Amino acid sequence: MSDRVNDSKNSGASRGAGSTGGTVLKIENLHVSFGEGETRARAVRGIDLEIHRGELHALVGESGSGKTVTSTCVLGLLPTPPAIIEAGSIYYKGHDHEGDLLQFSEDKRRRTRGREIAMVFQEPGKYLNPALRVGEQIMEMLRLHLGFRGEAAEQRALEILETVGLGGNRRVLRSFPHELSGGMKQRVMIAIAICCNPSLLIADEPTTALDVTLQMQILKLIMQLRHKFDMGILFISHDLAVVHDIADRVSVIYAGKIVESGSRDEIFNSPQHPYTRLLLASVPDAAKRGKKLVTISGKVPDAEHFPTGCAFHPRCPLAEKRCADEQPPAEKLDGSRSASCFCLGKEWPA
Ligand SMILES: Nc1ncnc2c1ncn2[C@@H]1O[C@H](COP(=O)(O)OP(=O)(O)OP(=O)(O)O)[C@@H](O)[C@H]1O
Ligand SMILES: [Mg+2]
Repeated sequence: MSDRVNDSKNSGASRGAGSTGGTVLKIENLHVSFGEGETRARAVRGIDLEIHRGELHALVGESGSGKTVTSTCVLGLLPTPPAIIEAGSIYYKGHDHEGDLLQFSEDKRRRTRGREIAMVFQEPGKYLNPALRVGEQIMEMLRLHLGFRGEAAEQRALEILETVGLGGNRRVLRSFPHELSGGMKQRVMIAIAICCNPSLLIADEPTTALDVTLQMQILKLIMQLRHKFDMGILFISHDLAVVHDIADRVSVIYAGKIVESGSRDEIFNSPQHPYTRLLLASVPDAAKRGKKLVTISGKVPDAEHFPTGCAFHPRCPLAEKRCADEQPPAEKLDGSRSASCFCLGKEWPA
């Protein structure tokens, strides 16, 4: 894995040496559902997650586990309805704003989004406005949030393009998104995200649609910008090899709950939760190192029909009767980690 983006120089063993400061985001006991009655889908079921300035916190888990619902809730982009935020708080501390994002007025949230909390998604094509030149899109953010005008806005937009590796290029500034390659579009989206010097960046599968070379370039760029702007980053990915290379902390989500959380080294070197163990053993790189490649039996349950007790119990090789009846609470373990499982430390079946 480490021949890829390795940022281990900057990643610490405990909370993350990338982390330089206090809390930028603290999600507590967040519950989000869709629909009611029989069709009620409990997408997020009590998530706790904390990110510090300068720290890259990766959120990993199978499809449908609640990663995007959680991140769009932080961004204030989760439409309610159909979503219902049933409980929880999202404490945020940025440059100008501090408090529970869920209690902010819509206007205050709009001012925070883009200015202080920025986002990068998988498909820049969907996010960029096809009818507006790239420069206009960057300058619009600079005007709206920072009051830049005229030549100063254009100059600043050029500098930002330089920062994201597009060479302070006026041609790019005057291009429409469709005139750019996939990698350039992704860089433009990152330029828009960071142009107001945000405190928090939410990156939801930002490189999944790119080929491997471009993926590495974009990840390196995100890492550089993290240090340059001292941003906290919530990094959502299916790619555990990438997460291994760039994360300070990792939270593993299953069926709308964080089942294990710890520093990158704690999670990758000695995973404790059976789901984390199986997830890591199912990464193809594990096979390259001579380890048996495994698949996790069964599939992620639908949010409408989560099993009772620990939602992972029907797929868990260690499950015992209690796991079907009771929900294991989050338990603080050694170092900086925690996990929710009744069977921690139990011997793995041969
Ligand atoms: N608008 C919606 N209406 C009903 N259910 C929804 C809606 N959006 C999400 N869900 C449900 O919420 C759960 C979590 O979805 P989410 O998109 O957060 O998953 P994810 O972890 O981001 O998956 P992926 O890795 O595929 O992106 C899923 O069961 C999904 O079906
Ligand atoms: Mg998603």
